[in-house]
Amino acid sequence: MTETWSLLQVGQKENYKVAYTNARIIDPETKLDIKGSLLTEGSKIVDFGESLLLDGIPSGIDEMVDCEGLVLMPGLIDVHVHFREPGQEHKETIYTGSKSAAAGGVTTVVCQPNTVPAIDSVILAKYLKCRALETSHVNVEFYAKITTSEERLTEMALLKEAGAVGFTDDGMPVMNPMVMRQALLYSSMLNVPIAQHAEDLNLSAGGAINAGKISEELGVKGILSASESIMVSRDILLMKDMENVHYHVLHISSKDSLDVIKRAKDLGLNVTCEVTPHHFTLTEDIVKRHGTIAKVNPPLRSEGDRLAMVEGLKTGVIDCIATDHAPHDRDSKDLPLENAAFGIVGLETILPLSLELYHSGQMSLFDVLAKLTYKPADIIHVPRGRIQKNLAADLILVDLNHEWEIKIDSFASKSKNSPFDKRKVKGYTVRTIVSGKTVYSHE
Ligand code: DOR
Repeated sequence: MTETWSLLQVGQKENYKVAYTNARIIDPETKLDIKGSLLTEGSKIVDFGESLLLDGIPSGIDEMVDCEGLVLMPGLIDVHVHFREPGQEHKETIYTGSKSAAAGGVTTVVCQPNTVPAIDSVILAKYLKCRALETSHVNVEFYAKITTSEERLTEMALLKEAGAVGFTDDGMPVMNPMVMRQALLYSSMLNVPIAQHAEDLNLSAGGAINAGKISEELGVKGILSASESIMVSRDILLMKDMENVHYHVLHISSKDSLDVIKRAKDLGLNVTCEVTPHHFTLTEDIVKRHGTIAKVNPPLRSEGDRLAMVEGLKTGVIDCIATDHAPHDRDSKDLPLENAAFGIVGLETILPLSLELYHSGQMSLFDVLAKLTYKPADIIHVPRGRIQKNLAADLILVDLNHEWEIKIDSFASKSKNSPFDKRKVKGYTVRTIVSGKTVYSHE
């Protein structure tokens, strides 16, 4: 079995035509699940269906892909990754991060702006876009910062014009409620989400892991789950009477936060949230086995919180799954718990970990795939994550039932900080197609 990657912008003739035949085609939004064929031309999906190509292959096809036994579905959309460029290229670059995305079946990522320097000006936003054009394997979108280093609002309108799909200070919260209020007000004029890293620093300061039985046992300062839910509650109170505001909560981890979000949704407020695979599959207990590799912010919490995450995915209170792919080098992790960096890489494990919800019978296949495709696309308003004629041909071929073992040493990511090493999983990305071009294959 060999893996091959190709950069998105590197040559393929303009109207290159590919016929995917014998595929199980799944579109989570329209609940399409058929055995059939799909045609792409250039960057677009041209046609698909059960009877397509039954009368033979039309002339002019450049490539035929026999998909027998495989699912052909929209590529995954991960609205939360850290590619560390500019400034920390020893941890990840757009080149290596997007390679990792392609291997994981992710065709669009949203980079967080906590780079060094942070993406808080138009010039840096343009730099990021240029680097992505030159060095990426997948579509790269980005959030820009909400605040400057002086705690003032960034030039949000100009940053949106430069391509920002939303705004966040991720890695850190917007602590000042007046600044948050202003950001929410401006965002309502720009029609973009404000994405909050919900953490009250007064409650979490100095904490390394969840405040609970493990922090007590290890004698390490804990991070209260209230530090998250209090911030979520504050922000919802700030936005509740504003028109046209979209408030998005990043990497949700606590049951209390979910309860607050459910109430906001019941009131009709435009509040969305995401959960990471580590927060719905692991608990604080894992810190005893994996140490700093399991140190992440927000921290892995109690079994009750984990179950609430699964329930939130099932009931729809949680809109989507995102990795918070947070690469760190060994030096940043080979430290005492108190001093090590927060973060877990996730792009190469998002699909099989999410599919555990399906294989264990907890969620339907459509519902799991929805959280990875069109639902995240809708949060950042991009017309992707669907199989539709004339839409970008961002697709993946997946072997749903292939069993394999996660091996961090074979990650394409520069960093290997994952607590999922050696986990036995089911579901494998065989090919990743972005804008009609195969950017990754493993056959
Ligand atoms: O664990 C985390 N790591 N959480 C964050 O919010 C930031 C991220 C990072 O940048 O490493």
